[in-house]
Amino acid sequence: MSRYALSTLLLAAATTVLAQDTATPLASKHFAYPSGIPYQADPDQGVRGSQFGYNKCNATTENQDSLCQTSFLNALDDFCLWAPSKPNSLIADTEGEEVAWCTKPGRGTRLIPAGALQGVQFMRTPDYIQVVGFIDQTKINIANGDSGGELDPHGADLRGNPLGGLVYSNGFPSNNGNNNTFQQVIEWHNFMGGNQFCFKACDPAGPHAADFCQHIYDRIGCAYNAPNAAQTGVFESCQGENQDFPGVYTSNGQVVTYQQPPESLGVISTIPYQPRVPASSNCVPFDSAKLFASLGTVTPTTSSAAPTTSSTGAKTTGSSSGSGTASRSSAGAGASQTSNSAATFGGRSGPESGAVAGIVTGMFGVMFAMAFLA
Ligand SMILES: *[C@@H]1O[C@H](CO)[C@@H](O)[C@H](O)[C@H]1NC(C)=O
Ligand SMILES: *[C@@H]1O[C@H](CO)[C@@H](O)[C@H](O)[C@H]1NC(C)=O
Repeated sequence: MSRYALSTLLLAAATTVLAQDTATPLASKHFAYPSGIPYQADPDQGVRGSQFGYNKCNATTENQDSLCQTSFLNALDDFCLWAPSKPNSLIADTEGEEVAWCTKPGRGTRLIPAGALQGVQFMRTPDYIQVVGFIDQTKINIANGDSGGELDPHGADLRGNPLGGLVYSNGFPSNNGNNNTFQQVIEWHNFMGGNQFCFKACDPAGPHAADFCQHIYDRIGCAYNAPNAAQTGVFESCQGENQDFPGVYTSNGQVVTYQQPPESLGVISTIPYQPRVPASSNCVPFDSAKLFASLGTVTPTTSSAAPTTSSTGAKTTGSSSGSGTASRSSAGAGASQTSNSAATFGGRSGPESGAVAGIVTGMFGVMFAMAFLA
């Protein structure tokens, strides 16, 4: 059989699995907030099981055990991050089940404990809004030393990481400053790990939302997916120019698209370019105590136990698995140009959920390799 025929066969097989696993990709499901929010955006049972939490969140679900999976990115003082439900978890093990941790009460979620945020830059550009910052990740249940990975509404089975996770915003220009109207963010990515984070929400009205919020560079962190100049200890709200699309750079006048190697080839030791940090302006600094005043009453549930490994097969997702690789350039979030501390748990593989998952991984690996070649 020719290589082409084999590839076609494998692609057909992978497509069949996709079709069986979820009827509608998460990124194609649209719900008005709050009136149209279902109990779960992903009520299906698939290879990765069912949605871990729920999207209908209210006063009853607003506590530090909340499994709310409806998230927001609005402003410097008003955003959520995806993080695990149980202390000492690895992002790679829990990517399918992260829950929303937010800076503002009132939306049925957990709150980020006071003191966890150690520097945040909010950036508004023509095509997206973004928060980038520094965090004591153990206060939001991420194991100390975990270099983490990427959350986004795609994944090999198109059910998203977390499954059914929804993101809303009142921060796009089309809202005309009306803070009470929320638009669903169709394309977004959130890197968590290495005590850093970046969360970008692309304006659904923009022509390149899927490019600015690209989800295939899951192993190269914030420095490459959300190049920024965020600083520890600084809380600021800025305006800026657009970044380049993640993975796209200009070298000797040529526009080049980087191809991230598959995990099977080992750690990423070199990347042939330095991402361009776009110009920013009008950065206004704020006092974090005032920004996050409502977080004062929340205490973290940290424990010193060994990292919890969970049951969802993190490695069954081809394009968006938490990387868990250990080189500097592939550290999970990598919020700025600073290098991360050694990733204690990097390189550790997530548990496989059986033979079926292994086969699916293989097929998706082929499929995505082909997509890169196309
Ligand atoms: C609050 O949210 C939970 C979880 O989605 C749901 O089971 C419950 O019915 C909601 N309560 C009300 C009053 O809507
Ligand atoms: C909307 O929220 C932003 C950020 O929290 C705030 O600065 C602004 O004043 C709010 N606008 C209105 C009209 O309330």
